[in-house]
Amino acid sequence: MTPAPVTVRVPAKVNVQLVVGGLRPDGFHDLANVFLAVGLHDEVTATPADRLRITASGPDAHQVPLDETNLAARAALALAARHGIEPRVHLHISKDIPVAGGMAGGSADGAAALVACDALWGTGATRAELLAICAELGSDVPFSLVGGAALGRGRGERLEPVEVTGTFHWVFAVADGGLSTPEVYRECDRLREASGGGHTAADLPEPQPTPALLEALRTGDAAALACALANDLQAAAVSLRPSLADTLRAGTEGGALAALVSGSGPTCAFLAKDPEAAESVAEALLSSGTCRKVRVTSGPVPGATVFPDGSPD
Ligand code: C5P
Repeated sequence: MTPAPVTVRVPAKVNVQLVVGGLRPDGFHDLANVFLAVGLHDEVTATPADRLRITASGPDAHQVPLDETNLAARAALALAARHGIEPRVHLHISKDIPVAGGMAGGSADGAAALVACDALWGTGATRAELLAICAELGSDVPFSLVGGAALGRGRGERLEPVEVTGTFHWVFAVADGGLSTPEVYRECDRLREASGGGHTAADLPEPQPTPALLEALRTGDAAALACALANDLQAAAVSLRPSLADTLRAGTEGGALAALVSGSGPTCAFLAKDPEAAESVAEALLSSGTCRKVRVTSGPVPGATVFPDGSPD
């Protein structure tokens, strides 16, 4: 009997603190990366097929690569190789997370495809095995699997739990066109070098999240979280895309508690006091004309989750 299709829903993330340490010999940077999963989701559906095939739908689907550079394809290949099976699967990505926006959309699809293929093929991979494959696929992929909130150490893939109370309300301003993550890290190194800072991992102490950030998450205090938000990649993203400074300013003037670039950008994230404040920040951003579209959502939300009946809703 042909197995029924499996659909997995997976969230976007925002980095509430992204502390970038030194450049390592392997080309990655040591990080203290505090992730929060937020309620913008992609859905990946795995259906039996004669060969690996990727399709995508959604307003930005034309920007999604449909070849083996797609993390969803790489996830299926990695799981199949480990279990000695052929990756005969059609993966359909229903895309709602901004593409190349610094919200881990590609990573989310990798984590979702892995969980979907595991269920479709009955490979029965343990959580530890899934996390190990995620870490091979990319630095943010393990977090997409687990969701909620977590501190990522190493290059961001070694996760530690972070306690969160309640829900935080966010507005995301989506820019036209993406930014390349490696380019943003390179620009971060260039800016640091230009300002005379040391830049190898050996020169710098291990990056750490601030106690104030962890306390704000633990107590569910949005005003305190606003003061603790920080992204060491922000200056680099703004340097590469100077118009982001206007977007950040428009959201702050529109009533956000705080504004920051999400991950490597160019999506900008705005923390709001409550859902009503989030709506009015969104309106202010839209009327400012400094972004392509806005999304209002909240977090934390769970990580990659199989729909019990194999299809959403
Ligand atoms: O791991 P991932 O594929 O998401 O990384 C993409 C690129 O981002 C890496 O090739 C590297 O240039 C940069 N990166 C980094 N340090 C990290 C994570 C990513 O320099 N901790």
